[in-house]
Amino acid sequence: MTEAAELHRPQPGASSAPAPLLSVRNIEVVYDDVILVLRGLSLEVPQGAIVALLGANGAGKSTTLKAISGLLKTEDGEVTRGEIVFDGERIDGVDPDRIVRRGIFQVMEGRRIVSDMTSLENLRLGAFTRSDREVGRDIEMVYSYFPRLKERTGLAGYLSGGEQQMLAIGRALMARPKMILMDEPSMGLSPLLVKEVFSIIQKINRDLGVTILLVEQNARAALSVASHGYIMEQGKVVLDGTADELRDNEDVKEFYLGGAGDQRKSFKNLKSFKRRKRWL
Ligand SMILES: Nc1ncnc2c1ncn2[C@@H]1O[C@H](COP(=O)(O)OP(=O)(O)O)[C@@H](O)[C@H]1O
Ligand SMILES: [Mg+2]
Repeated sequence: MTEAAELHRPQPGASSAPAPLLSVRNIEVVYDDVILVLRGLSLEVPQGAIVALLGANGAGKSTTLKAISGLLKTEDGEVTRGEIVFDGERIDGVDPDRIVRRGIFQVMEGRRIVSDMTSLENLRLGAFTRSDREVGRDIEMVYSYFPRLKERTGLAGYLSGGEQQMLAIGRALMARPKMILMDEPSMGLSPLLVKEVFSIIQKINRDLGVTILLVEQNARAALSVASHGYIMEQGKVVLDGTADELRDNEDVKEFYLGGAGDQRKSFKNLKSFKRRKRWL
């Protein structure tokens, strides 16, 4: 074997796929010591990917994100089984501010910006873990993604729903995270704004290399930007696959993409159509 070939030979025990940036392994989450919400949930997010976590209201999507970001602790929740590994290290049980320092930032459901502060002050809050001098430059970078935020100099509480969502994402970027956890960014937004927010999410992923775990009830929008998705029900993953596989799956179409639902709706239309036809 030549020296070069020797160098390229895989190391014993090394698998061909790189380790995922985030791996959640068989976790159980309990609130208030008694309420079991996650029952053996596992998922993986590769470095640089956008992965969608889908499911109906109450499935445990937000709980999963809070288990990863450590914010469960603030709600008397606890990971009681399994492990969460980020960038090669266990993070379950670690305090949320230390998890931010390790590179994970959660954009909470309902945006949760500070409404009696300006956009700029909110953005500075996102940089709370940083002491470097590039915070000012990063604020300009965030404004380049969200030019409207720069124009709005008043209190953040007066921003529109879409602008508040953008501010929440911009604030996450200020932490220079390796990974952003997004909880239902489309909630309460018009279809046009949903499109805009998702195209920005895609751009952030592509340009800045930020890995994204995206929780959504809007499966169609999420699968349009994600490469892979997980579907959860009652605290467990029931199905996962590439975004294309999920879009083509009949059950997913029926329950989450409004496929068969639309047919049922059109069935009603069909009846009235026939009735109308008879009278014509
Ligand atoms: N802080 C909490 N204390 C007790 N139960 C909770 C708490 N947060 C969520 N739950 C329960 O956990 C389940 C999953 O909630 P959640 O993770 O918010 O679901 P999703 O985000 O998918 O709608 C629900 O039954 C909810 O009532
Ligand atoms: Mg939720």
